[in-house]
Amino acid sequence: MSGTTRRTHRCGELRAEHVGQLVKLGGWVHRRRDLGGIVFIDLRDRAGIVQVAVGPDAPEEVRRSASGLTGESVVEVFGKVVARPADMKNPELATGDIEVHATKLVKVGSAVTPEIPVARAKSEELPAEELRLKYRHLDLRRPEMQANLILRHRLLQRARKTLSDLEFLEIETPILTKPTPEGARDYLVPSRVHPGECYALPQSPQIYKQLLMVSGFDRYFQLARCFRDEDLRYDRQPEFTQIDLEASFVGAEDVQGFVEAVLTALWDEAGHAVERPFRRITWQESMERYGTDKPDLRYEGLAIVDWTAQVESLGVPFFAAHKDGARVRGLAVKGGGALSRKDVDQLAETAKQFGGAGLAWVKRQGDQLSGSVAKHFSLEALGRLGVGDGDAALMTVGPDRVTSPVLDKVRQELIRRLAPPPARPHAFCWVVDFPLFESEPGTGRPVFAHHPFTAPHPEDVAKLDREPLACRALHYDAVYNGHELGSGSIRITEPALQRTVFRHLGLSPQETEARFGFLLTALAAGAPPHGGFAVGFDRVAMLLAGAGSLRDVIAFPKTTAARALFEGAPAPARPEDLAALHIQVTA
Ligand code: AMO
Repeated sequence: MSGTTRRTHRCGELRAEHVGQLVKLGGWVHRRRDLGGIVFIDLRDRAGIVQVAVGPDAPEEVRRSASGLTGESVVEVFGKVVARPADMKNPELATGDIEVHATKLVKVGSAVTPEIPVARAKSEELPAEELRLKYRHLDLRRPEMQANLILRHRLLQRARKTLSDLEFLEIETPILTKPTPEGARDYLVPSRVHPGECYALPQSPQIYKQLLMVSGFDRYFQLARCFRDEDLRYDRQPEFTQIDLEASFVGAEDVQGFVEAVLTALWDEAGHAVERPFRRITWQESMERYGTDKPDLRYEGLAIVDWTAQVESLGVPFFAAHKDGARVRGLAVKGGGALSRKDVDQLAETAKQFGGAGLAWVKRQGDQLSGSVAKHFSLEALGRLGVGDGDAALMTVGPDRVTSPVLDKVRQELIRRLAPPPARPHAFCWVVDFPLFESEPGTGRPVFAHHPFTAPHPEDVAKLDREPLACRALHYDAVYNGHELGSGSIRITEPALQRTVFRHLGLSPQETEARFGFLLTALAAGAPPHGGFAVGFDRVAMLLAGAGSLRDVIAFPKTTAARALFEGAPAPARPEDLAALHIQVTA
């Protein structure tokens, strides 16, 4: 399959079974070692590295070419595959049982000294990421990056096949479009022919996929590029890829079943067996037990507990200072006796950093209690919190909106420090029944928790007007080991209900018409019940590649300052281009 008119095999494909064959190879000089009488060249291509040997009996011009070769130049080699003597085999290399004895060797592409090394000892640190992004053509040659992008390709093909087998149709939707509200700013593209008007790049294909359901396509998917102008982090890029899907005549469980089929196929592609169905946990329970809507259920035993009643009578001043609506919540940490004073101080610092009052703690070793509030506790009082010998209790106090995020962070930090054995390596779950609205910090105004097309929970529709903040949504997130992989919902199909939701978001009827009139027109034309989901594909690829950032699974990513360092984007626009677009720059 890899053969062409210029080569017979890829370098990394050769094995003992090829011994005796004459082969033509092409690749990059990874390393060259000149041992006097013999030159060894590690020749690299996307399949791996093979050792090419140019010995004393090789033709004179081959020895001359081999001795002048520099790293990263491109060569074509003709030679014979030969078994290596037992003591010369290299078990670290897939091709390590053989080498190629060159009878012809031509340099077909010279290379300047590479700005960053491609060949690197395992112990050697990577160059600074800015340099890696600036010289991305070299960085992408590294075997690790090649492996990441090859895995990404395989995952995309598997997703496509899985959905196609489930009768989903792949349909492309526009990139030059109208704003789609997903909570970020839009990237705008000014129109040349319509002065003052702009297209927006899609934050997601959300509205289009709903229109496709109205049009009767029934099951849609797309490996969709999305664009969001938002603050970037290790797991966010301004442009990214979703496995986006939508289906008609479905309930939430049907959509979740489709998504489980895709995710288990992707994990299988990366060599991991995953059990279905995934667990389901309500948003309420997730916030109560883990303080977050993306719980890491590998450590489900380490859960937040409400100890308000158990500690009430102990007279701990730290708890008494916070009354009204405050609860004392904490973590009973098995093996927490091993935490040092310094550990606990740092955890308390984390708690403060995330807006909490700090941490009160007690640990038990034998009959000895120690810690910031130990003098208020007896062995029995501690036992009532489920804290035994060798364990510790970490507690904080305040309203839930403060203590939940604090205890989430403390829990994550504890897992890092104590590294307890996980109950399972792959902890998937569905978080369901999210709230429909959130209260906007500062104003308390209800703002949409996700996008405004999410259907309210049927039991809560009556609360929409009276208590919007108590209204649950038919929204679900897929969570894996503490990472949000994606989200979706059952959609609103009634134009009147959709208008009510827009009204709650503060849109006037005129604004609603201007921004979303086309959707309302479509919903009025006979909309089937429908729902869908979007998997953040780059995150999946990052997790399955074991990479530390999305940038390691995207060929040409942006920095956290949203710059493309390799090609240099964004770049100042030429004055004549701005003039053609009717734009004046004022800053
Ligand atoms: P949502 O906005 O939750 O839902 O996006 C779905 C998933 O996309 C990923 N994601 C990102 N990945 C990389 N960089 C980003 N900036 C970024 N933003 C989001 C996350 C997220 O879970 N239209 C809805 C889906 C639906 O309702 O069907 C949507 O886009 O993994």
